[in-house]
Amino acid sequence: MKILYVTSEAVPFCKTGGLADVAGSLPPALAEQGAEVAVVLPLYERVRDRFGSQLNFECYDYVDLAWRHSYCGLFSMEKDGVTWYFLDNEQYFSRGTLYGQADDGERFAFFSRAVVRMMDHFKFWPEVVHCNDWQSALVPIYLKDDGVREDRYRSIKTVVTIHNIEYQGRYNPYVLGELFGLDAGWAKDGTILLDGDANLLKGAILCADAVNAVSPTYANELKMPYFAHRMEGVMRQCSNKLSGVLNGIDMKLYDPRTDGRILKNFSLEDMAGKDDCKAELQRMVGLREEPHTPIVAMVSRLVSHKGLDLICEVLHDMMELPMQLVVLGTGDQRYEEFFHWAAQQYPGRMSVRMDYNEDLSMAIYAGADLFLMPSKSEPCGLSQMIAMRYGTVPIVRETGGLKDTVQPCESWRDAGNGFSFANYSSGDMLHVIREAVYLYKDYPDVFSRLRQRAMSCDFSWARSAREYLRIYATITGQAWPIPTDTRRAAEMPAEEPAPVEESAPVEEPAPAEEPVPVEEPVPAEEPAPVEEPVSAEEPVPAEEPAPAEEPAPVEEPVPAEEPAPVEDKPARKPRKTAAKTAKKSEKSEKKTEKKTTAKKGTAGKKKSAE
Ligand code: GLC
Repeated sequence: MKILYVTSEAVPFCKTGGLADVAGSLPPALAEQGAEVAVVLPLYERVRDRFGSQLNFECYDYVDLAWRHSYCGLFSMEKDGVTWYFLDNEQYFSRGTLYGQADDGERFAFFSRAVVRMMDHFKFWPEVVHCNDWQSALVPIYLKDDGVREDRYRSIKTVVTIHNIEYQGRYNPYVLGELFGLDAGWAKDGTILLDGDANLLKGAILCADAVNAVSPTYANELKMPYFAHRMEGVMRQCSNKLSGVLNGIDMKLYDPRTDGRILKNFSLEDMAGKDDCKAELQRMVGLREEPHTPIVAMVSRLVSHKGLDLICEVLHDMMELPMQLVVLGTGDQRYEEFFHWAAQQYPGRMSVRMDYNEDLSMAIYAGADLFLMPSKSEPCGLSQMIAMRYGTVPIVRETGGLKDTVQPCESWRDAGNGFSFANYSSGDMLHVIREAVYLYKDYPDVFSRLRQRAMSCDFSWARSAREYLRIYATITGQAWPIPTDTRRAAEMPAEEPAPVEESAPVEEPAPAEEPVPVEEPVPAEEPAPVEEPVSAEEPVPAEEPAPAEEPAPVEEPVPAEEPAPVEDKPARKPRKTAAKTAKKSEKSEKKTEKKTTAKKGTAGKKKSAE
């Protein structure tokens, strides 16, 4: 299987966010499982500066986009079984930053056009082109456009991965021809049009053969207005080709047994090193050196959707608990000011570093005891997985990938790998933080078993790579050979998304296509997004939601109105204990049997009417 992976950033070359981690790890994982993989990305100034001497110049060609006829150089590098291609055009990519330039639309239109143009010069003609986020969203659109004239483009199948739907690439539709070289028909028939804007991500979602979000729960959430940033209709329309594939992490890079970036190594069998890492962290950030006080940590961009309002609301209550708090990150001024001020109130107990600092973040993952992520929404989230790997137990809100990777602790039966709360409510968050802190203080044995379960979770990329290969096989109609060593795993049910090892809790993450759960917290508390300001070049900013206690507005998605689940997916398991679930379902099964059948019929009708 020949895969061309298109991305605007990839580790180790250039990074602004989680997309780079995924693009750096997934292609080698696909190659390891036998696929032929090439990755293509822009040759940014910083890539040229740091990796220029290792790149091979392949050739150059010209790219036509609207009236522009621009040079495009092709460089390559072989690494981890993958060919990495870099497209060169200094006018577009020799800039100080990757994004945030006034002409980002033109830059990434050039990039996407060049990807299609330069395919002739790649080492293979791809069977699948896999694009990511809005920056490469024009690729499936151009392939369709070109496919009208040339058969060979029609042979290529496309996958679009949504890492964060907030960023859609929205432009004034008048620039469609001038900037993107597309006929007005693309807007007229609505393919690329949303709320009066040319919306590149929407166009890509409609044109692609398969679409996936970076976790099963996020894939489901994207059908709800609260999470979808106006795209819920499009996502529902595409639900037959939508899936959720959980990201992995680089299990070799993030390995407490061998990681050279942390003070002392440690492992499941010998945790002594973690105590040293904790003492070192306390020294580094100016916390009191108290070995028996749990350190709660946050490593996060300080922006609203990370759930920081909850912390602002109850910080003083949190600090009444016998715990220490360390925060690392930069972001919105109001949060920076708040945390800066708060840290001064609790010298020796709370420490804040406004910084983006890899070394300190590793010291925190290794040295802290609890890792807090109360996100309002989180497509996948990598930090909670890294934290778990280093024995730092996560406390998360049940959304997106957080819900799919963290199962709440049930100490009575030694299950779960972290702590979680469902409602976006500071009271609920405080409650689980208190639970976690006292479990640490009062029941160290139970806590250490919980920590061990967190550490033994399997977040390897091999699992995700298998799921992507299954998607590629489905859209290309190929039978993908299953390597012997993965046969057992592959024989598991197709929807199996559980990220944890067998020892981990039995509850499975919500499947992508499940119906909206009754207890789903967010919709009831948040107003539907209002008209978003549309800037020609900028990603669409999230509207600030109303406070958590706000009564539910009428236009919120009410579970009963949600379309029925897609037929082939299992019904959702409530996030209660497995025992309770089993008993309840036994009782109710017979009762509801008739009802369900009737409901399904109605819901089916509703859906088709849509
Ligand atoms: C985006 C999402 C994050 C995800 C990452 C990689 O940055 O916000 O949750 O982990 O993409 O897919």
